[in-house]
Amino acid sequence: MRALVISDIHANLPALEAVLAAAPQYDAVWNLGDIVGYGANPNEVVELARSLGGIVVRGNHDRACSGNLRYGEFFDFSQHARYSISWTRKALREENTKWLSRLARGPVRPLGRKVACVHGSPQDEDEYILGGEVAREAFRASCARIILCGHTHGQYGWSSNRRRLDLLKPDFDSRTGAVRFELPLRTGNRYLLNPGSVGQPRDHDWRAAFAVYDDNEAMFTWHRVPYKVLTAQRRILRAELPEILATRLRDGT
Ligand SMILES: [Fe+2]
Repeated sequence: MRALVISDIHANLPALEAVLAAAPQYDAVWNLGDIVGYGANPNEVVELARSLGGIVVRGNHDRACSGNLRYGEFFDFSQHARYSISWTRKALREENTKWLSRLARGPVRPLGRKVACVHGSPQDEDEYILGGEVAREAFRASCARIILCGHTHGQYGWSSNRRRLDLLKPDFDSRTGAVRFELPLRTGNRYLLNPGSVGQPRDHDWRAAFAVYDDNEAMFTWHRVPYKVLTAQRRILRAELPEILATRLRDGT
């Protein structure tokens, strides 16, 4: 089976459409959360994400935008995030708010014990796995062989075995067009892998990021695809969301 792995769409409809158009054939979608927040098309993106079916794990913005927050947690978000959360709450249609509020908390396991899908980390849905120490903890906290996580908006991962922990990053041969990077998954290794962000990449590459997990071939492929970033930016400005949410899309920051 082959899964399209997407995360952190953040209401960016042109980016999601480009990803779906560029994705190779797949049997299921595994969505690691943060469907809304920041971008200007929350309803359209929720409806498209719903229509894809498959697995959807909730992200912190999905919780915040559907009013599903712990006391005081709203103030943990940055000022721009808070503004966009308030804007999104008003913009969302009721049925879409309801759908977001009922999303599953990770880990969700689409292939039994083999794969765990989380937004942040297996131990904490809001944790950012940015360094080796937290990656080590994530491997300890889960018994899944492959952990798929989002939340940091970067394309990278780690492999782990009894002797070592290795940082993994795609090495694309172009900075402009559609590109892919294949990572063969070795027997005996465990993996923690982030597909990157569809709608708000922060790894200095503006192209929409996604990945494909192929269970039969034991292969994880990172992809990058150009999208209509000017359209996404124009919509953010027209919606009177903070300007920085538009400008950062062009820089991938
Ligand atoms: Fe996010």
